[in-house]
Amino acid sequence: MPETISSRAITFSNWRDPLKLSTIEIPASPEENQVLVKTEAVSVNPIDIIIRLFCPPWFFSSNKIVGGDFSGTVIKAGSKTTYKPSDKVYGSVFNPFGATGSFSEYLLFDPQEATFCNKIPEGMPFTKAAALPVVAGTALQALEAHSEPLKDANVLILGAGTSIGYYAIQIAKNYYGAKFVAATCSSKSFERLIQAGASKLIDYTKGTTHEVNDILEAVKGHGKFDVVIDIVRDGSLFGYLDAVLKPKSEGGMFVEINAMKKMDYNHLNLLSMAPSWTYLYEYYKSWLGFSSFQFTNISEVKDPQFGGVIEKLWGEGKLDVAIDSVWDFATEYEKAFERVSSGKVQGKVMLTTGTSESE
Ligand SMILES: NC(=O)c1ccc[n+]([C@@H]2O[C@H](COP(=O)([O-])OP(=O)(O)OC[C@H]3O[C@@H](n4cnc5c(N)ncnc54)[C@H](OP(=O)(O)O)[C@@H]3O)[C@@H](O)[C@H]2O)c1
Repeated sequence: MPETISSRAITFSNWRDPLKLSTIEIPASPEENQVLVKTEAVSVNPIDIIIRLFCPPWFFSSNKIVGGDFSGTVIKAGSKTTYKPSDKVYGSVFNPFGATGSFSEYLLFDPQEATFCNKIPEGMPFTKAAALPVVAGTALQALEAHSEPLKDANVLILGAGTSIGYYAIQIAKNYYGAKFVAATCSSKSFERLIQAGASKLIDYTKGTTHEVNDILEAVKGHGKFDVVIDIVRDGSLFGYLDAVLKPKSEGGMFVEINAMKKMDYNHLNLLSMAPSWTYLYEYYKSWLGFSSFQFTNISEVKDPQFGGVIEKLWGEGKLDVAIDSVWDFATEYEKAFERVSSGKVQGKVMLTTGTSESE
């Protein structure tokens, strides 16, 4: 029998089973392509809640470990990895269809197979590093979907009060050098989004007419947008996109991120996740070549650019990491999930293991 380490992990087995703290056994010696990491912090993403809510009893034969995002310290590294003990790392081991996940005191994984695994930039606390992978990675990939360079571009972000929106603003402005970044959000998010670099804020809670008029006004003043990134399935602009987006000959693109319109995760059903008819109409119109702009959707995948982008922005002091709240991993995980379920978080909800300095 190989030597194992006991690791406390947050798990469930299906939608009827509440989250629970379990103890699992992990091999203590990594294989040559694996690292063994002592987890310091993890962040709760909406998808972590959704996976449990829709998980049928027959799907996982054993307990499923929740989560994807993590930060921690390498304690053992296989000979074929680029890591060594004491390296501080962060990343995502998100695995929706498998039993593994990041909400465990120890993680054993192959960094090449993880969605992300990078060394933490100098001076970045564990809590901030674990807040980034899924949301900042999705923001980067939504901007990367645009094939033209975004320097001096006009960017519109729908639902910028989300964590993804927060990083989309910062990456567009501070990494790509976009000129004008307009963002829709509620007035609660105004202050932090201005600090993040938004050029113009539009309060979507005042209604569709107000939102569309404000966006058309921005087009009059600054020209059409190079890219619109939709993080909240906001259909308000459907029917106006020709007037808002540059033509595809100039790279005009609408990027949708397969999000949900309703962010109250206490009252979700399958319909909340389904795209609207107007969305499908725009998608297939573009696919068939009948739109003046390009309409696309993305889901986060592995991205070799991610670590370098974060390292550069952090090193230049141009990246703010927003934390909504920090909870204890072993005793407060239910409160952390309740907080994310409200759909009102302003930054990431974190769990820390408290075994080492996380700030
Ligand atoms: N495609 C992918 O790979 C991928 C990856 C990660 C996440 N996602 C999805 O992306 C979405 C955002 O995730 P996140 O973690 O960034 O969100 P989040 O941080 O949990 O977003 C919370 C914020 O969203 C805003 N909001 C809530 N309801 C809204 C609405 N109806 N319209 C506009 N804004 C609203 C609120 O800010 P205001 O007060 O300013 O409205 C709230 O503070 C989720 O649906 C998630 O499932 C997709």
